[in-house]
Parts: sequence; structure tokens; C-alpha cells
Amino acid sequence: MSAMSPPPRIWAVAGGKGGVGKSITAASLGLALAREGKRVALIDLDLGGANLHTCLGLPPSATLFDFLNQHESDINAFVTATRMPRIGLISSATQSLDIVSLKHFQKQRILRNLKHIAADYVILDLGAGCDLNTLDFFLAAERGIIVVTPDPTSIENAYRFLKSALVRRMRELPPAARAAINELLLARRKQGAPALESFAALLERVRRQQPSLGDTLAATLTRQRIHLLVNQVHEPADIELGHAMSLAGRRYFAQALEYLGHLHYDRQVGEALRRKQPLLEIAPTSRAAIQFVRLARTLLNQEQPRGAIDERA
Ligand SMILES: Nc1ncnc2c1ncn2[C@@H]1O[C@H](COP(=O)(O)OP(=O)(O)OP(=O)(O)O)[C@@H](O)[C@H]1O
Ligand SMILES: [Mg+2]
Repeated sequence: MSAMSPPPRIWAVAGGKGGVGKSITAASLGLALAREGKRVALIDLDLGGANLHTCLGLPPSATLFDFLNQHESDINAFVTATRMPRIGLISSATQSLDIVSLKHFQKQRILRNLKHIAADYVILDLGAGCDLNTLDFFLAAERGIIVVTPDPTSIENAYRFLKSALVRRMRELPPAARAAINELLLARRKQGAPALESFAALLERVRRQQPSLGDTLAATLTRQRIHLLVNQVHEPADIELGHAMSLAGRRYFAQALEYLGHLHYDRQVGEALRRKQPLLEIAPTSRAAIQFVRLARTLLNQEQPRGAIDERA
């Protein structure tokens, strides 16, 4: 990357629940962006369960573990070029590290270096669950894409993931604001009420007491755009799920959970994986491939010019 290159835009694909389609989404959006002429680096952050390379039809390559273990300071040395134009990968297969045992300084080193990757887009494929390291990688992204399926357990896990992420986000509040909000939460607990009934209710209470603190809290909570992607849709009613979650999200999280779109259940997805080929290559005219390309274009069309985005340190 030349010294003048802007930092990449970072998108994280998460979902809380396992097996909903996070990795196939990360891989397919990456491929679709590359076809639109963007340079893409895909990073497998599902340490312990890494299989992003399989979704791309590639063998395991350099890993985050290699990056952490070597003194080479440039993360770009660990982004393996692939046979697909403009797509690089940091795999995490074959490594002996899992996400929970990633040490704080190792996480910080990865987070700091993601911004130095020579790409237009860095896409993070996150693992299932709400462990703090996964939450921190999610929060580091400019956009978070939450993949859900119509399965009630997936919906529940997605909400739990978002709640955990936003609770953690509040650690970024300036110390005085954080202390004031903690006091409010504590006061409610002393009254025997749930401390955090919803982010929307908390924001309303904060605003009533201190409007400027309310503005700070709102700005912190909405630092990242959050998108919902409903996957493995079988029937029209499933598509409505995204709208319902989006509405419920506004009431609970005090922000838009933007409904990005849906993907139909498509046997070709599993077939491509079994053949170890990227879906967009082996079945470009499949329903799922066409929908992935459309979703990538939607995201690209929504991009705001640089400078309009809060580039966090
Ligand atoms: N739209 C779809 N149609 C059919 N099958 C799908 C679809 N999306 C995902 N799958 C299937 O679901 C399985 C899980 O997909 P994937 O590995 O992308 O999920 P994941 O959320 O990354 O899982 P994990 O939490 O284990 O990392 C795969 O076998 C894939 O074939
Ligand atoms: Mg996965």
C-alpha cells in the first residue's frame, strides 16, 4: 500500500449462532466486491473453527497465528494472494490458537494492523458466540453484518450478540460519561428494577436528565452501521423476519438495524462447499449467487464518501 492509500473499509460478518452462513456470506461478498473492481482481503477470525478458505475453494494458507508469531511487522506479508483477482486471504486453519485464548495484546496487535492492510475492503469472518474477542473484532468494523436464519434460536442469539456488543461499546464512552451512566444503571438496580431494560429506555432516561450526555451515548451506540441479512429463507414469511427484527431493534437498541436483504435456501451453496469451489464461480447463475452479487452492490451503493465516516483510532 502506498503511503497515500486510505485505510481499508472494514466489514465484519457475525451472527451469534453457528452454522447460519457467516463464512459463506463473507466469502461470497468478498468475491462479489472483487468482481466490482475492489481489492479485498478476507480474514478468518473464527480461530479454532476456521473454514473460510474452504468457502473460497482454497487450501489453508498463512494464518493470523503466523503473523502473531513472527517479527515481520507488516501484516500484508501474511495476506496470501489467491488465484482470484484482487482477493487476498489470511486463513486461520491449521493454527493452534482459539479465539478465547487470544491474549489482549495479540488482539490489539491484530486490530491495529487491520487498518494497514493494502485493500479497499477487509472482511472479517467471525465465529459463533459472544466471547469478548469476537465482540471487539465486530466493534472494530465500520459495518457489522448480522446473519440470521428464520430459526428462533438464531434470532435469539443474534439479539444476544448485539446486546453484548453494545454493552461493550459503552466502554468507549469518555470516562465521565461512563461513570454517570453507570451511576444511573446502579440506581435502577437499587430500586429492584433491571438495570438495562433496553438501550432505548436507557437513552431516554439519560436524555431526560442530561441532554448532552444523551447525545454522547447515542453517538457511541450508533458508531457502526448494523445490517441484518436473513439467510436460508424457505418461504415468503421468512423474508418478513428482517423487517420485524429491524423494527424490534429500533425499539430495543435505539438504532436502525438495517435490513440488507435475504438469501434463499439454495442447494447449490452446499454443493459448492462439497466440491470445494466458490459458489460465485461454480454456480454463478444460482439463486444464492445472484442474491449475493445484489447484496454486495447494495452495500457498495450505500457507501458514503471518505471523511463522512467516523474513523476510529
Ligand atoms: N443460503 C443457503 N442455502 C443452503 N445452504 C446454506 C445457505 N447458507 C448456508 N448454508 C449451509 O449452511 C452451512 C453453514 O454455512 P457457513 O459455514 O457459512 O456457516 P457459519 O455461520 O460460518 O458457521 P460456523 O459458525 O460454524 O462458522 C453450510 O453447510 C452451508 O452449505
Ligand atoms: Mg463460519
